[in-house]
Amino acid sequence: MRARGVVVTAIVLLLPLTGPRASVAIKPSVTRAATSDTLRQPTTLRNRSTVPHVVDVDLTAAPAQLRLRPGGPLVRVYAYNGTVPGPTLDVREGDSVVVHFHNELPEVTTVHWHGLHLPANADGSPLFPVAPGSTYVYTFRIPPGYAGTYWYHPHPDARSSYQVSMGLFGAMIVRAPDDPIAALGVPEKLLILSDNRFDANGAISFPDSESIQAEVDLENGREGNVLMVNGQVMPTISMPPGGVQRWRIVNASAARVYRLSLPGGQMIHVGSDGGLFAHGVTVPDIMIANSERVELLVRGGLTPGQRLQFQDLPYDRYMPQTRPADWDSTRALLSVVVSHAPAAQPLRIPPVLRYVPPLDTMHVAERRVIVMSQGLINGRKMDMNRVDLRGHLGTTEIWELQNVVGMDHPFHLHGFRFQVLDRDGVPEPFPSWKDLVNVPKHSSMRIVVRFDDYPGKWMYHCHILDHEDEGMMGVLELN
Ligand code: C2O
Ligand code: CU
Ligand code: CU
Repeated sequence: MRARGVVVTAIVLLLPLTGPRASVAIKPSVTRAATSDTLRQPTTLRNRSTVPHVVDVDLTAAPAQLRLRPGGPLVRVYAYNGTVPGPTLDVREGDSVVVHFHNELPEVTTVHWHGLHLPANADGSPLFPVAPGSTYVYTFRIPPGYAGTYWYHPHPDARSSYQVSMGLFGAMIVRAPDDPIAALGVPEKLLILSDNRFDANGAISFPDSESIQAEVDLENGREGNVLMVNGQVMPTISMPPGGVQRWRIVNASAARVYRLSLPGGQMIHVGSDGGLFAHGVTVPDIMIANSERVELLVRGGLTPGQRLQFQDLPYDRYMPQTRPADWDSTRALLSVVVSHAPAAQPLRIPPVLRYVPPLDTMHVAERRVIVMSQGLINGRKMDMNRVDLRGHLGTTEIWELQNVVGMDHPFHLHGFRFQVLDRDGVPEPFPSWKDLVNVPKHSSMRIVVRFDDYPGKWMYHCHILDHEDEGMMGVLELN
Protein backbone atom coordinates (compact mmCIF):
# COMPACT_ATOMS: atom_id res chain seq x y z
CA MET A 1 0.00 0.00 0.00
CA ARG A 2 3.00 2.25 0.20
CA ALA A 3 2.46 3.37 -3.35
CA ARG A 4 5.61 5.31 -3.80
CA GLY A 5 6.90 6.78 -6.99
CA VAL A 6 10.49 7.05 -7.96
CA VAL A 7 12.71 9.14 -5.75
CA VAL A 8 13.19 12.33 -7.65
CA THR A 9 16.80 13.31 -7.60
CA ALA A 10 16.69 15.98 -10.25
CA ILE A 11 14.80 19.22 -10.23
CA VAL A 12 11.09 18.67 -10.01
CA LEU A 13 9.15 20.98 -12.21
CA LEU A 14 5.52 21.36 -11.41
CA LEU A 15 3.86 22.30 -14.61
CA PRO A 16 2.88 23.43 -17.23
CA LEU A 17 3.79 20.41 -19.25
CA THR A 18 3.10 22.07 -22.56
CA GLY A 19 4.98 24.69 -24.50
CA PRO A 20 8.52 25.93 -24.41
CA ARG A 21 7.88 27.90 -21.23
CA ALA A 22 7.72 24.60 -19.38
CA SER A 23 11.38 24.76 -18.54
CA VAL A 24 11.35 28.37 -17.45
CA ALA A 25 11.69 28.55 -13.72
CA ILE A 26 10.18 31.65 -12.24
CA LYS A 27 9.08 32.34 -8.72
CA PRO A 28 5.31 32.27 -8.47
CA SER A 29 3.71 35.65 -8.29
CA VAL A 30 3.17 36.71 -4.71
CA THR A 31 0.18 38.85 -5.64
CA ARG A 32 -2.47 36.19 -5.43
CA ALA A 33 -6.11 36.97 -5.95
CA ALA A 34 -8.11 37.07 -2.73
CA THR A 35 -8.93 33.51 -1.87
CA SER A 36 -12.44 32.24 -2.27
CA ASP A 37 -11.78 29.15 -0.20
CA THR A 38 -14.53 27.93 2.02
CA LEU A 39 -11.88 25.95 3.90
CA ARG A 40 -11.01 27.87 7.04
CA GLN A 41 -7.65 27.84 8.73
CA PRO A 42 -7.67 27.36 12.50
CA THR A 43 -6.70 30.48 14.41
CA THR A 44 -3.18 30.72 15.78
CA LEU A 45 -2.52 30.75 19.54
CA ARG A 46 -1.73 34.33 20.49
CA ASN A 47 1.78 34.87 21.76
CA ARG A 48 1.72 37.39 24.58
CA SER A 49 5.49 37.48 24.99
CA THR A 50 7.47 40.36 23.55
CA VAL A 51 10.79 38.61 24.19
CA PRO A 52 12.30 37.28 20.96
CA HIS A 53 12.13 33.48 20.71
CA VAL A 54 9.82 33.15 23.68
CA VAL A 55 6.30 32.00 22.92
CA ASP A 56 3.91 32.35 25.83
CA VAL A 57 0.35 31.22 25.28
CA ASP A 58 -2.83 30.39 27.17
CA LEU A 59 -4.74 27.25 26.40
CA THR A 60 -7.99 26.24 28.05
CA ALA A 61 -9.90 22.99 27.63
CA ALA A 62 -13.57 23.43 28.47
CA PRO A 63 -17.01 22.19 27.50
CA ALA A 64 -18.67 24.33 24.83
CA GLN A 65 -21.73 24.39 22.59
CA LEU A 66 -20.72 24.49 18.93
CA ARG A 67 -22.41 23.99 15.61
CA LEU A 68 -20.29 21.21 14.17
CA ARG A 69 -22.18 20.98 10.91
CA PRO A 70 -23.66 23.78 8.79
CA GLY A 71 -27.36 24.07 9.54
CA GLY A 72 -26.94 21.50 12.30
CA PRO A 73 -27.81 22.05 15.96
CA LEU A 74 -25.52 23.37 18.66
CA VAL A 75 -23.97 20.34 20.27
CA ARG A 76 -21.99 19.78 23.41
CA VAL A 77 -18.30 19.44 22.74
CA TYR A 78 -15.00 19.79 24.52
CA ALA A 79 -12.93 22.56 22.96
CA TYR A 80 -9.52 24.18 23.26
CA ASN A 81 -10.05 27.93 23.55
CA GLY A 82 -13.61 27.47 22.33
CA THR A 83 -12.89 26.04 18.89
CA VAL A 84 -12.75 22.65 17.17
CA PRO A 85 -10.06 22.08 16.00
CA GLY A 86 -8.15 24.02 18.63
CA PRO A 87 -5.92 26.94 17.72
CA THR A 88 -2.59 26.20 16.04
CA LEU A 89 0.64 26.55 17.99
CA ASP A 90 2.85 28.19 15.38
CA VAL A 91 6.49 28.41 16.47
CA ARG A 92 10.03 28.40 15.17
CA GLU A 93 13.04 26.19 15.76
CA GLY A 94 14.86 27.45 18.84
CA ASP A 95 11.76 28.99 20.43
CA SER A 96 11.12 28.55 24.13
CA VAL A 97 7.48 27.72 24.58
CA VAL A 98 5.43 28.27 27.71
CA VAL A 99 1.85 27.03 27.65
CA HIS A 100 -0.37 28.02 30.54
CA PHE A 101 -2.94 25.27 30.39
CA HIS A 102 -6.24 25.46 32.25
CA ASN A 103 -8.41 22.41 32.68
CA GLU A 104 -12.02 23.53 32.87
CA LEU A 105 -13.34 20.11 31.90
CA PRO A 106 -15.33 18.06 34.38
CA GLU A 107 -12.61 15.39 34.20
CA VAL A 108 -8.85 14.83 34.32
CA THR A 109 -6.92 15.59 31.15
CA THR A 110 -3.40 16.36 29.90
CA VAL A 111 -2.01 18.05 26.81
CA HIS A 112 0.40 15.86 24.89
CA TRP A 113 2.63 17.64 22.35
CA HIS A 114 2.72 14.77 19.92
CA GLY A 115 6.07 14.36 18.18
CA LEU A 116 8.07 16.97 20.08
CA HIS A 117 11.32 16.33 21.90
CA LEU A 118 10.89 17.82 25.37
CA PRO A 119 11.35 17.13 29.08
CA ALA A 120 9.23 14.29 30.42
CA ASN A 121 7.28 16.62 32.73
CA ALA A 122 6.18 18.67 29.69
CA ASP A 123 5.11 15.66 27.63
CA GLY A 124 1.52 15.54 28.87
CA SER A 125 1.67 11.79 29.38
CA PRO A 126 -0.82 10.06 31.69
CA LEU A 127 1.87 10.25 34.41
CA PHE A 128 1.21 14.01 34.69
CA PRO A 129 -2.58 14.31 35.03
CA VAL A 130 -4.16 17.75 35.27
CA ALA A 131 -7.16 17.71 37.62
CA PRO A 132 -10.41 19.51 36.79
CA GLY A 133 -10.17 23.19 37.70
CA SER A 134 -6.39 23.21 37.85
CA THR A 135 -3.59 24.68 35.78
CA TYR A 136 -0.39 23.14 34.42
CA VAL A 137 2.47 25.01 32.81
CA TYR A 138 4.14 23.16 29.95
CA THR A 139 7.64 24.53 29.29
CA PHE A 140 9.85 23.30 26.50
CA ARG A 141 12.31 24.45 23.88
CA ILE A 142 12.02 23.52 20.22
CA PRO A 143 15.38 22.07 19.16
CA PRO A 144 16.99 23.01 15.86
CA GLY A 145 16.14 20.59 13.07
CA TYR A 146 12.59 19.96 14.31
CA ALA A 147 10.75 22.00 11.68
CA GLY A 148 7.65 20.06 10.79
CA THR A 149 3.97 19.53 11.44
CA TYR A 150 2.83 18.16 14.78
CA TRP A 151 -0.32 18.10 16.84
CA TYR A 152 -1.51 18.25 20.41
CA HIS A 153 -4.20 16.18 22.07
CA PRO A 154 -5.33 14.92 25.49
CA HIS A 155 -3.56 11.87 26.88
CA PRO A 156 -5.17 11.06 30.25
CA ASP A 157 -5.33 7.49 31.43
CA ALA A 158 -8.06 5.59 29.54
CA ARG A 159 -9.91 8.68 28.21
CA SER A 160 -8.00 9.81 25.13
CA SER A 161 -10.44 8.43 22.58
CA TYR A 162 -13.41 10.08 24.30
CA GLN A 163 -11.75 13.47 24.75
CA VAL A 164 -10.39 13.64 21.20
CA SER A 165 -13.77 12.57 19.81
CA MET A 166 -15.38 15.34 21.88
CA GLY A 167 -13.25 17.88 20.01
CA LEU A 168 -9.89 18.21 21.72
CA PHE A 169 -7.19 18.31 19.06
CA GLY A 170 -5.09 21.02 17.44
CA ALA A 171 -2.06 21.42 15.20
CA MET A 172 1.48 22.61 15.83
CA ILE A 173 3.73 23.97 13.14
CA VAL A 174 7.45 24.35 13.73
CA ARG A 175 9.13 26.54 11.15
CA ALA A 176 12.76 26.53 10.05
CA PRO A 177 14.62 29.76 9.25
CA ASP A 178 15.69 28.31 5.89
CA ASP A 179 12.61 26.47 4.65
CA PRO A 180 13.19 26.12 0.90
CA ILE A 181 9.51 25.84 0.02
CA ALA A 182 8.53 28.88 2.05
CA ALA A 183 11.34 30.74 0.27
CA LEU A 184 9.56 30.12 -3.04
CA GLY A 185 6.45 31.87 -1.78
CA VAL A 186 4.30 28.76 -2.22
CA PRO A 187 0.92 29.27 -0.49
CA GLU A 188 0.46 26.98 2.47
CA LYS A 189 -2.61 25.27 3.93
CA LEU A 190 -3.10 23.29 7.09
CA LEU A 191 -5.57 20.40 6.75
CA ILE A 192 -6.57 18.62 9.95
CA LEU A 193 -8.47 15.43 9.18
CA SER A 194 -11.00 14.15 11.69
CA ASP A 195 -14.10 11.99 11.66
CA ASN A 196 -17.04 11.78 13.97
CA ARG A 197 -20.34 10.08 14.58
CA PHE A 198 -23.59 11.84 15.48
CA ASP A 199 -26.91 10.67 16.87
CA ALA A 200 -30.38 11.53 15.56
CA ASN A 201 -30.32 14.82 17.51
CA GLY A 202 -26.96 15.77 16.07
CA ALA A 203 -25.04 15.14 19.29
CA ILE A 204 -21.65 13.44 19.23
CA SER A 205 -22.51 9.83 19.80
CA PHE A 206 -20.81 7.09 21.74
CA PRO A 207 -22.12 3.55 21.96
CA ASP A 208 -23.56 2.23 25.14
CA SER A 209 -20.89 0.18 26.79
CA GLU A 210 -22.82 -3.11 26.57
CA SER A 211 -23.59 -2.78 22.86
CA ILE A 212 -22.06 -4.61 19.91
CA GLN A 213 -20.98 -1.24 18.55
CA ALA A 214 -18.89 -0.71 21.69
CA GLU A 215 -17.11 -3.99 21.00
CA VAL A 216 -16.58 -3.07 17.37
CA ASP A 217 -15.20 0.32 18.40
CA LEU A 218 -12.84 -1.33 20.80
CA GLU A 219 -11.60 -3.64 18.09
CA ASN A 220 -11.38 -1.18 15.16
CA GLY A 221 -11.02 2.03 17.09
CA ARG A 222 -13.88 4.49 16.95
CA GLU A 223 -14.55 5.65 13.41
CA GLY A 224 -17.15 8.20 12.39
CA ASN A 225 -19.09 8.32 9.15
CA VAL A 226 -18.75 12.12 8.90
CA LEU A 227 -15.33 13.14 7.60
CA MET A 228 -14.11 16.66 8.22
CA VAL A 229 -11.20 18.87 7.25
CA ASN A 230 -10.53 21.57 9.85
CA GLY A 231 -13.93 20.66 11.30
CA GLN A 232 -15.73 21.30 7.99
CA VAL A 233 -17.55 18.87 5.74
CA MET A 234 -16.45 19.11 2.08
CA PRO A 235 -14.91 22.58 2.07
CA THR A 236 -13.30 23.97 -1.08
CA ILE A 237 -9.87 25.30 -1.90
CA SER A 238 -9.45 27.53 -4.89
CA MET A 239 -6.28 27.62 -6.96
CA PRO A 240 -5.34 29.42 -10.16
CA PRO A 241 -4.72 27.21 -13.22
CA GLY A 242 -1.44 25.40 -12.62
CA GLY A 243 -1.30 26.70 -9.06
CA VAL A 244 0.71 24.80 -6.49
CA GLN A 245 0.17 24.75 -2.74
CA ARG A 246 1.92 23.19 0.21
CA TRP A 247 -0.48 21.18 2.31
CA ARG A 248 0.44 20.21 5.84
CA ILE A 249 -1.93 17.37 6.68
CA VAL A 250 -2.56 16.04 10.18
CA ASN A 251 -4.61 12.91 10.75
CA ALA A 252 -6.32 13.69 14.05
CA SER A 253 -8.79 10.81 13.78
CA ALA A 254 -8.91 8.36 16.65
CA ALA A 255 -8.56 5.38 14.35
CA ARG A 256 -9.32 6.16 10.70
CA VAL A 257 -6.49 5.67 8.24
CA TYR A 258 -6.75 7.67 5.01
CA ARG A 259 -5.33 6.97 1.59
CA LEU A 260 -5.32 10.41 0.04
CA SER A 261 -5.56 11.09 -3.66
CA LEU A 262 -6.40 13.97 -5.96
CA PRO A 263 -7.49 12.58 -9.33
CA GLY A 264 -6.70 15.08 -12.07
CA GLY A 265 -4.09 16.81 -9.92
CA GLN A 266 -0.55 16.07 -8.95
CA MET A 267 0.93 15.32 -5.54
CA ILE A 268 4.55 15.39 -4.50
CA HIS A 269 5.22 13.95 -1.05
CA VAL A 270 7.81 16.28 0.48
CA GLY A 271 7.64 15.54 4.18
CA SER A 272 6.43 13.39 7.01
CA ASP A 273 5.97 13.58 10.81
CA GLY A 274 9.27 15.30 11.48
CA GLY A 275 9.38 17.63 8.51
CA LEU A 276 10.78 17.75 5.01
CA PHE A 277 12.52 14.89 3.23
CA ALA A 278 15.76 15.41 1.36
CA HIS A 279 13.84 15.05 -1.92
CA GLY A 280 10.22 15.06 -2.97
CA VAL A 281 8.56 11.90 -4.25
CA THR A 282 5.74 11.96 -6.80
CA VAL A 283 2.89 9.82 -5.47
CA PRO A 284 -0.43 8.69 -6.98
CA ASP A 285 -1.85 8.45 -3.47
CA ILE A 286 -0.49 8.66 0.03
CA MET A 287 -1.44 6.78 3.14
CA ILE A 288 -1.71 8.66 6.41
CA ALA A 289 -2.34 6.59 9.52
CA ASN A 290 -4.08 8.13 12.50
CA SER A 291 -1.75 10.62 14.16
CA GLU A 292 0.63 10.65 11.23
CA ARG A 293 1.40 13.82 9.25
CA VAL A 294 2.31 14.39 5.62
CA GLU A 295 3.46 17.42 3.72
CA LEU A 296 2.50 17.57 0.07
CA LEU A 297 3.05 19.91 -2.81
CA VAL A 298 -0.26 19.80 -4.62
CA ARG A 299 -1.02 21.07 -8.10
CA GLY A 300 -4.73 21.46 -8.60
CA GLY A 301 -5.53 21.55 -12.32
CA LEU A 302 -5.01 23.52 -15.51
CA THR A 303 -8.46 24.41 -16.73
CA PRO A 304 -10.39 27.34 -15.26
CA GLY A 305 -13.62 26.09 -13.73
CA GLN A 306 -12.29 22.57 -13.29
CA ARG A 307 -13.28 20.85 -10.06
CA LEU A 308 -11.18 18.14 -8.49
CA GLN A 309 -11.97 15.98 -5.53
CA PHE A 310 -9.51 15.29 -2.78
CA GLN A 311 -10.45 11.78 -1.70
CA ASP A 312 -9.88 9.05 0.80
CA LEU A 313 -9.43 5.76 -1.08
CA PRO A 314 -10.24 2.43 0.58
CA TYR A 315 -7.62 0.82 2.72
CA ASP A 316 -8.15 -2.46 4.54
CA ARG A 317 -6.61 -2.16 7.97
CA TYR A 318 -9.27 -4.32 9.64
CA MET A 319 -9.86 -7.77 11.02
CA PRO A 320 -12.31 -9.54 8.68
CA GLN A 321 -14.81 -10.06 11.54
CA THR A 322 -15.22 -6.37 12.32
CA ARG A 323 -14.41 -4.78 8.96
CA PRO A 324 -17.10 -2.17 8.24
CA ALA A 325 -19.41 -3.13 5.37
CA ASP A 326 -18.55 0.06 3.49
CA TRP A 327 -14.79 -0.14 4.05
CA ASP A 328 -14.14 -0.28 0.30
CA SER A 329 -15.94 2.93 -0.62
CA THR A 330 -14.11 6.08 -1.65
CA ARG A 331 -14.93 9.15 0.44
CA ALA A 332 -14.72 12.79 -0.59
CA LEU A 333 -12.84 15.15 1.71
CA LEU A 334 -12.71 18.46 -0.10
CA SER A 335 -12.97 20.08 -3.52
CA VAL A 336 -10.23 21.90 -5.34
CA VAL A 337 -11.66 24.47 -7.72
CA VAL A 338 -9.52 25.92 -10.49
CA SER A 339 -10.23 29.63 -10.58
CA HIS A 340 -10.36 32.02 -13.52
CA ALA A 341 -7.33 33.89 -12.23
CA PRO A 342 -4.27 34.13 -14.51
CA ALA A 343 -2.34 30.87 -14.70
CA ALA A 344 0.38 30.38 -12.12
CA GLN A 345 3.99 30.46 -13.19
CA PRO A 346 5.80 27.14 -13.24
CA LEU A 347 7.48 26.28 -10.01
CA ARG A 348 10.96 24.91 -9.77
CA ILE A 349 11.43 22.88 -6.62
CA PRO A 350 14.97 22.82 -5.28
CA PRO A 351 16.65 19.43 -5.84
CA VAL A 352 17.51 19.17 -2.15
CA LEU A 353 14.93 20.27 0.38
CA ARG A 354 16.80 19.48 3.56
CA TYR A 355 19.62 17.30 4.81
CA VAL A 356 18.23 14.39 6.82
CA PRO A 357 21.20 12.62 8.43
CA PRO A 358 20.74 8.85 8.69
CA LEU A 359 21.10 7.67 12.29
CA ASP A 360 24.25 5.65 12.93
CA THR A 361 23.34 1.96 13.16
CA MET A 362 26.89 0.74 13.77
CA HIS A 363 26.94 1.45 17.48
CA VAL A 364 23.75 0.11 18.93
CA ALA A 365 23.38 -0.30 22.68
CA GLU A 366 20.20 -2.32 22.66
CA ARG A 367 18.10 -4.31 20.20
CA ARG A 368 14.54 -4.89 21.30
CA VAL A 369 11.54 -6.72 19.95
CA ILE A 370 8.16 -5.08 20.45
CA VAL A 371 5.36 -7.53 19.79
CA MET A 372 1.93 -6.09 19.14
CA SER A 373 -1.00 -8.44 19.53
CA GLN A 374 -4.62 -7.41 19.94
CA GLY A 375 -4.64 -4.87 22.79
CA LEU A 376 -1.28 -5.99 24.18
CA ILE A 377 2.36 -5.04 23.81
CA ASN A 378 4.81 -7.84 24.57
CA GLY A 379 1.89 -9.74 26.04
CA ARG A 380 1.01 -7.11 28.63
CA LYS A 381 -1.36 -4.27 29.26
CA MET A 382 -0.12 -0.89 30.43
CA ASP A 383 0.55 -0.46 34.11
CA MET A 384 1.54 3.04 35.12
CA ASN A 385 3.45 1.68 38.10
CA ARG A 386 5.57 -0.64 36.01
CA VAL A 387 8.61 0.06 33.84
CA ASP A 388 8.67 -2.22 30.81
CA LEU A 389 11.93 -1.16 29.19
CA ARG A 390 15.03 0.50 30.63
CA GLY A 391 17.49 2.38 28.47
CA HIS A 392 20.26 4.91 28.73
CA LEU A 393 20.76 8.43 27.55
CA GLY A 394 23.50 8.85 24.99
CA THR A 395 22.71 5.55 23.29
CA THR A 396 21.13 4.33 20.09
CA GLU A 397 18.64 1.45 19.97
CA ILE A 398 17.05 -0.62 17.23
CA TRP A 399 13.51 -1.80 17.83
CA GLU A 400 11.86 -4.47 15.79
CA LEU A 401 8.12 -3.86 15.72
CA GLN A 402 6.19 -7.04 15.11
CA ASN A 403 2.50 -7.05 14.43
CA VAL A 404 1.38 -10.63 14.95
CA VAL A 405 -2.36 -10.13 14.42
CA GLY A 406 -4.73 -9.54 11.50
CA MET A 407 -5.23 -5.80 11.78
CA ASP A 408 -2.89 -2.82 11.50
CA HIS A 409 -1.52 -1.10 14.60
CA PRO A 410 0.08 2.34 14.27
CA PHE A 411 3.07 2.50 16.60
CA HIS A 412 4.12 5.69 18.40
CA LEU A 413 7.00 6.57 20.72
CA HIS A 414 6.89 9.66 22.90
CA GLY A 415 9.66 12.21 23.10
CA PHE A 416 12.08 10.82 20.51
CA ARG A 417 11.79 10.78 16.77
CA PHE A 418 13.05 7.76 14.91
CA GLN A 419 13.89 6.49 11.44
CA VAL A 420 12.47 3.41 9.77
CA LEU A 421 15.24 1.03 8.65
CA ASP A 422 13.23 -1.62 6.85
CA ARG A 423 9.74 -3.03 6.44
CA ASP A 424 9.51 -6.82 6.23
CA GLY A 425 13.19 -6.78 5.37
CA VAL A 426 12.88 -4.25 2.55
CA PRO A 427 15.16 -1.30 3.25
CA GLU A 428 13.51 2.09 3.51
CA PRO A 429 14.46 4.07 0.39
CA PHE A 430 15.64 7.17 2.27
CA PRO A 431 15.83 8.37 5.87
CA SER A 432 13.05 10.52 7.26
CA TRP A 433 11.98 11.57 10.75
CA LYS A 434 9.00 9.70 12.12
CA ASP A 435 7.23 9.47 15.46
CA LEU A 436 4.46 7.23 14.25
CA VAL A 437 4.60 4.33 11.86
CA ASN A 438 1.75 2.12 10.79
CA VAL A 439 2.64 -1.54 11.25
CA PRO A 440 0.40 -3.48 8.84
CA LYS A 441 -1.23 -6.76 9.87
CA HIS A 442 1.21 -9.69 10.15
CA SER A 443 4.27 -7.63 9.31
CA SER A 444 7.33 -6.33 11.01
CA MET A 445 9.66 -3.41 10.65
CA ARG A 446 12.75 -2.05 12.28
CA ILE A 447 13.26 1.45 13.56
CA VAL A 448 16.34 3.17 14.95
CA VAL A 449 16.17 5.78 17.69
CA ARG A 450 18.77 7.90 19.43
CA PHE A 451 18.24 8.93 23.06
CA ASP A 452 20.22 12.12 23.42
CA ASP A 453 18.73 13.79 26.42
CA TYR A 454 15.72 14.02 28.71
CA PRO A 455 15.62 11.27 31.30
CA GLY A 456 12.35 9.93 32.64
CA LYS A 457 9.45 7.75 31.67
CA TRP A 458 8.25 7.71 28.09
CA MET A 459 5.21 6.00 26.65
CA TYR A 460 5.16 3.87 23.53
CA HIS A 461 1.83 2.63 22.27
CA CYS A 462 -0.62 1.80 19.55
CA HIS A 463 -2.15 5.10 18.45
CA ILE A 464 -5.60 3.69 17.79
CA LEU A 465 -6.88 5.68 20.74
CA ASP A 466 -9.26 2.97 21.92
CA HIS A 467 -6.37 0.50 21.99
CA GLU A 468 -4.21 2.99 23.87
CA ASP A 469 -7.02 3.59 26.38
CA GLU A 470 -7.38 -0.16 26.87
CA GLY A 471 -3.70 -0.42 27.74
CA MET A 472 -1.92 -1.22 24.47
CA MET A 473 0.96 0.84 25.80
CA GLY A 474 4.24 0.43 27.64
CA VAL A 475 6.70 2.55 29.62
CA LEU A 476 10.33 3.13 28.68
CA GLU A 477 12.50 4.61 31.40
CA LEU A 478 15.67 6.43 30.38
CA ASN A 479 18.42 7.50 32.71
CU1 C2O B 1 -0.28 11.17 20.08
CU2 C2O B 1 0.91 8.99 23.29
O1 C2O B 1 0.28 10.09 21.65
CU1 CU C 1 3.01 11.16 21.43
CU1 CU D 1 -3.80 -1.04 17.96
